[in-house]
Amino acid sequence: MSPRAGCTVLLAAFALSLTGCDSSLDVPHLALTKSFSRALQDCMEYLQVPGYRYAEYASNNYPDDPETKCLLRCVGLNLRWWNDTSGVQTAVMERFFQPDPADAEFENRTAECLEKALPTGSDSNDCCCSAYESFRCYLQYYGNLIPCALFYPEDDSRHIRAAQDCIQYLQIPEKLLKSYSTGSFPDAPETRCLLRCFFLRTGVFHVDTGFDVERLYSRDFENPDERYLSPETQTKLHELRGSVGEQCTEVYVAYRDVLGELGRPFFEYNVLEKAAKRALGVVCEEEPVTTTTVCPSISDFNYKELNCQNCGRLLISPTGRCSALQVRHDGYGPCDRSAYDRGEKVENTGLLTVCDDEHEHGSTTGGDADDGGDG
Ligand SMILES: *[C@@H]1O[C@H](CO)[C@@H](O)[C@H](O)[C@H]1NC(C)=O
Ligand SMILES: *[C@@H]1O[C@H](CO)[C@@H](O)[C@H](O)[C@H]1NC(C)=O
Repeated sequence: MSPRAGCTVLLAAFALSLTGCDSSLDVPHLALTKSFSRALQDCMEYLQVPGYRYAEYASNNYPDDPETKCLLRCVGLNLRWWNDTSGVQTAVMERFFQPDPADAEFENRTAECLEKALPTGSDSNDCCCSAYESFRCYLQYYGNLIPCALFYPEDDSRHIRAAQDCIQYLQIPEKLLKSYSTGSFPDAPETRCLLRCFFLRTGVFHVDTGFDVERLYSRDFENPDERYLSPETQTKLHELRGSVGEQCTEVYVAYRDVLGELGRPFFEYNVLEKAAKRALGVVCEEEPVTTTTVCPSISDFNYKELNCQNCGRLLISPTGRCSALQVRHDGYGPCDRSAYDRGEKVENTGLLTVCDDEHEHGSTTGGDADDGGDG
């Protein structure tokens, strides 16, 4: 979405407030949009940063103190431009800044600043500090912060949720769901319209204006693909607009011939396969466990003193009811990117399974074995 479109959303909100509705946005579909300052205010609430500090931040003054650093990390997580493991997500971050049209070197100077602030290969255990320094580089060298609410990417669980919603709305027949659940997508009118519904619901396709390639680009921020933004792609999509006379088919052909292979190739089929499995009640399938770092860990939550010295690591398998949650007991497993890059497994984890009746670890101390009391 262009910055201007973001502002239109804000104007719409303003218009709403004049009609006597409350000031909440009437959000279309299931897409997420948020402004930087809204994310900042969210995080000030989560982290209980005193309200008087907002004035400082609103005038682009982000002092070098632990509270502000962890606040910016929270903003980054909130808008998904920050990840404790992989650092700043450029495809998302870039869109919150407007470069000066006369500035030809904003990208190089930002990259230089990032390299200086966070040398590659360095082990930064301090994710608040790293997030803060990254933000400062963009603020100083990339451009001006855009005040509008902008589209930011979903996580995959919300994508699957959106696909499941569309399966229900369109009453996709079970026969097709079975096929989808095995990764096969027969070219049927239902398949075409399901894709259209999915793109609509996740906010990357609009009935009147077609595909929103900028949103697709930031949606696939983990594989930033400039081809989404290329004139060739624009031309191909433009040629398809209205040429087939029926929008489900138009979307399907655009996906098959132009967009499908960009970014995360045929990501939608992957999502639809998972959603079809859920819709059929196949929830306990085996899935590879993915790793996420959390910092600070919940038990040690005190961002003021801690400043991310005690980062925990969470292992989550996003399989609905069949999800396994592993938490490091020692609470230390930090934002050490190099350890992650070496592919080291996190040891010393507790396992909590919600899928069946077997619990690897129940309550920590039973009543009868009271050798734990140190009196
Ligand atoms: C952070 O990045 C890692 C590695 O790229 C990825 O596996 C993980 O899912 C990301 N975490 C979040 C919350 O997106
Ligand atoms: C930016 O960096 C790239 C690669 O390091 C270089 O090729 C390019 O000339 C630089 N651009 C400017 C304007 O300095």
